[in-house]
Amino acid sequence: MDSQKKIITITGYKGGVGKSTTAVHLATFFSELGKTVLVDGDQNRTALAWSKRGSFPFPAVDERQALKVIADAQFVVIDTPARPDSDDLKELEAV
Ligand SMILES: Nc1ncnc2c1ncn2[C@@H]1O[C@H](COP(=O)(O)OP(=O)(O)OP(=O)(O)O)[C@@H](O)[C@H]1O
Ligand SMILES: [Mg+2]
Repeated sequence: MDSQKKIITITGYKGGVGKSTTAVHLATFFSELGKTVLVDGDQNRTALAWSKRGSFPFPAVDERQALKVIADAQFVVIDTPARPDSDDLKELEAV
């Protein structure tokens, strides 16, 4: 597998449609392929709360801690809040 970092961002306009659930499942899948970090970029911190309840096979951090831990990750899965505005979407696309 090539060593370039892959960043997968989960976004969607509606709330409660499974973004965080999808992010956790994707991070679980990718963690079997290489070092994976889940970045919880939603202020409601759903994914972080779930990670504290159980034992995910990957670290979960908020966006403030992300830079410290994603350097050597091969896969970075980013969970995002509902109702992104057009600026948010442009920024997500630009990364
Ligand atoms: N594929 C699915 N089938 C059934 N229930 C699901 C599925 N995916 C998620 N859920 C349930 O739907 C609810 C909302 O899921 P989740 O928190 O992942 O959505 P979200 O889009 O991240 O919400 P928010 O916009 O509030 O961040 C949760 O109770 C979750 O367990
Ligand atoms: Mg969510």
